[in-house]
Formats: sequence, structure tokens, C-alpha cells
Amino acid sequence: MNRTESSASDHPTPDRTPAGHDSAHLTIRPPTLADGGEMWRVARDSGSLDLNSSYSYLLLADHFSDTCRIALLGDDVVGFVTGYLLPRDPSRYFLWQVAVDERARGHRVAGRLVDSVLDEVPGVESLATTVTADNASSRRVFQRLADDRGATLTERSGFEAHHFPDGHEAEPLLVIDGLGRR
Ligand SMILES: CC(C)(COP(=O)(O)OP(=O)(O)OC[C@H]1O[C@@H](n2cnc3c(N)ncnc32)[C@H](O)[C@@H]1OP(=O)(O)O)[C@@H](O)C(=O)NCCC(=O)NCCS
Repeated sequence: MNRTESSASDHPTPDRTPAGHDSAHLTIRPPTLADGGEMWRVARDSGSLDLNSSYSYLLLADHFSDTCRIALLGDDVVGFVTGYLLPRDPSRYFLWQVAVDERARGHRVAGRLVDSVLDEVPGVESLATTVTADNASSRRVFQRLADDRGATLTERSGFEAHHFPDGHEAEPLLVIDGLGRR
């Protein structure tokens, strides 16, 4: 697996550098087990994500590092994406969660995290994720990603409210087909 790191200096466009960190280096890389705790912390502080057990973030960071990424400003983890290739269709990347710390939002860090997976994991032709109807920021990320790659985003029924045992709202499925390496 190619684990090439990318840094903000590769993309010097000023609006891609999170505010207050103009001189800091934004690094995107696969996580290691040691990063799992900070991924849990970013999820906890995100304000809107379902917070999974700390154990699950350690497991993702350790066992699924090829298809997960973290974003660092200096030594600080400020974002992550988690996901895996669907066991029944390894050409489809299922993106489980993406989150960026409030201080780094609005600078396309989320898109760069997802790009890193799509650019470095071979054989991915489509992406699927679920996003609640009211999550406009997240929907912007996926629409832009589809547009940037000349791909098609469609919305389908995903995990419906009645599937959840705890009153969780419906999670419609967004699918981006036609992903190519840029
Ligand atoms: C969704 C999220 C990951 C986007 O990360 P990001 O790196 O800020 O993404 P972008 O910079 O591409 O911004 C996406 C949209 O967020 C909105 N946005 C911009 N600045 C923002 C800020 N400071 N705070 C909140 N939202 C902002 C804008 O609508 C933007 O779209 P635009 O650039 O076309 O105007 C981030 O907002 C987040 O962590 N949210 C909480 C967790 C979540 O909902 N995750 C998705 C479900 S798995």
C-alpha cells in the first residue's frame, strides 16, 4: 500500500491552510494504533457525530489504517476519515465517519482526507456513505468531491429510521459512482 504523505506545502493555495495555522504543516497520513485515541477525541468534540466506543477507533486505526486517514497540524490531530472496502464489493469504499475539528473547518480538510484514500487505495470505483438530511456541510464535501472527479452523486434509501433500535434518525445513502484516479 502506498502510504505517501501529503502536506500543505504541496498545495500552497492560501485558502487551504486552516486559519491561525498559516505556518503550520497540514499532514495527511494513515493512522497508527497510537492515533486511535485522538480520533475518538475528534469524534467526541465534533458536536454531531455518533460517538462510537474508544475501542472501535483503536480497532480502525490499527486494523483498517489502509482505508483511514488522519490530518495533523503540527503534532495535533485535527481530523480523520474512517472507512473500509465493502467485503462483498471491494471496488466500493464505504466511508463511515469524517470529522474535522472546529478550528480547522472550512478549509477542505475533509475533502483532502477522502482524496488521500481514493488516490492511494487501488481499485476503488465508487464511494458510499450515509449522511443525515440536515448535514449540509457534509453534503457539500461529497458533492464537491464528485464534481472534482467528474463523478456522479446519487441519493438512495440507506439505513431507515425503523432499522435503528434507539430512535436514531434516518441515514440516507449517498453513492458516488465513476471515480477515477486524477
Ligand atoms: C462535515 C465536515 C467534516 C466538513 O469538514 P471541512 O474540512 O470543514 O469541509 P469543507 O472545508 O469542505 O467545508 C464544507 C462545508 O462546510 C461549511 N463550512 C465552512 N466553514 C465552516 C466552519 N467554520 N464551520 C462549519 N461549517 C463550515 C460550508 O458550507 C462548506 O461548504 P463550502 O466550502 O462550499 O461553503 C466538518 O464540518 C465536521 O467535522 N462536521 C461534524 C462531523 C460531521 O458531521 N461529519 C460528517 C458525517 S460522517
